[in-house]
Amino acid sequence: VITKVKARQILDSRGIPTVEVDLFTNKGMFRASAPSGDPTGMYEAVELRDGDKGLYLGNSVNRAVKNVNEKISEALVGMDPTLQSQIDQAMIDLDKTEKKGELGANAILAVSIAACKAGAAEKEVPLYKHIADLSGKTNLTLPVPAFTVISGGKHAGNNLAIQEITILPIGASRFEEALQMGSETYHHLKAVITEKYGAHGCNVGEDGGFAPNISSVKEGLDLVKEAISRTGYNERIKIAIDVAATDFCIGTKYDLDFKSPNKSGQNFKSGEHMIDMYKELCTEYPIVSIEDPFDKEDWEHVKHFSSLGLCQVVGDDLLMSNPKRIERAINESTCNALLLKINQIGTVTEAIEVVKLAKDANWGVVASHRCGETEDSFIADLSVGLATGQIKAGAPCRGERLAKYNQLLHIEEELGDHAVYAGDDWRQ
Ligand code: PGA
Ligand code: ZN
Repeated sequence: VITKVKARQILDSRGIPTVEVDLFTNKGMFRASAPSGDPTGMYEAVELRDGDKGLYLGNSVNRAVKNVNEKISEALVGMDPTLQSQIDQAMIDLDKTEKKGELGANAILAVSIAACKAGAAEKEVPLYKHIADLSGKTNLTLPVPAFTVISGGKHAGNNLAIQEITILPIGASRFEEALQMGSETYHHLKAVITEKYGAHGCNVGEDGGFAPNISSVKEGLDLVKEAISRTGYNERIKIAIDVAATDFCIGTKYDLDFKSPNKSGQNFKSGEHMIDMYKELCTEYPIVSIEDPFDKEDWEHVKHFSSLGLCQVVGDDLLMSNPKRIERAINESTCNALLLKINQIGTVTEAIEVVKLAKDANWGVVASHRCGETEDSFIADLSVGLATGQIKAGAPCRGERLAKYNQLLHIEEELGDHAVYAGDDWRQ
């Protein structure tokens, strides 16, 4: 049984406070922490911050920590850690608000993950296996990783409007080989960028992708294409982009120069122009997936683009991992894949439910990190246990990103002959 729950404030990969929890049972201590990203809007679970400008510029999380140490601990002590949905429901009931703003989704999620780890230990099974049991599935699958290789948008200080270019080693035979292919491409890309822009072009963004001072997506895609061709892997590696278009939507137009210091206002594109641009990109480059091609409220253009069937269309800011928005997008055929950010929903149980929702609609599912990460590798186990088929955890570089990829190596090793790499079935 759970004997104690204790939280503390730690720093995430951006140097911003977040919540870490130690949950104790008769089997030992189980530690978990909450990732963090820029809030997108009113549909996601609320990250509780103190707002005291004298402490971490308003970002401290002492109230969330106190909520774990007092209210949540009191409610959970004595509970069986294998009963994930009851633990999560107890916290939801205690919070009473729709978006977990009373206790803080950062407090609730860290406890939920720690309890999940404790539940696995209680049953003496690996974490991914416990998660598979909780979801009622058994087909454990190692996901295809989407490695961030070029960063832009709000994640980097260059002029590139789109947030990231990622590479997917779909043609690898196992996860270990996918990691090798990703790493080799990343280092070839470093050389390609150095030749063209000098060493400072290899400075990196928040997720570890290179951030050369390019201003067009094609310039970035050409660099990546060159790096892939130097590896010799060619068509075994595909490309995906996260446009994060909400960040540069102005009214009904998209400002592809939104970060340029001498913006001319000439690069405003209509939704139709954006669709033409995506069509061109999908023809000229091996693009298999585009995330958030339009603003989070521009459902019509997302739907139009998805209907062309050119690639997977992923809803991140569009869906905010919110079940109501996911249901609406399924009903209206708006997109065809879910980007799962567990801190936007706030508990493991609810994360499992939205993945089911997406899978029942034959959507792709991408288990995702946040720009503010910790060394917690939970989403690696989650992606295997729920057989999401895809994971996006940043570059094959930087500790907080590698924590997830390296954990997938451990899982693959542990599964041995039973390990299945999603490969060509990455969308299923
Ligand atoms: P975020 O980035 O954590 O800044 O939201 C992740 C993403 O957009 O995919
Ligand atoms: Zn995104």
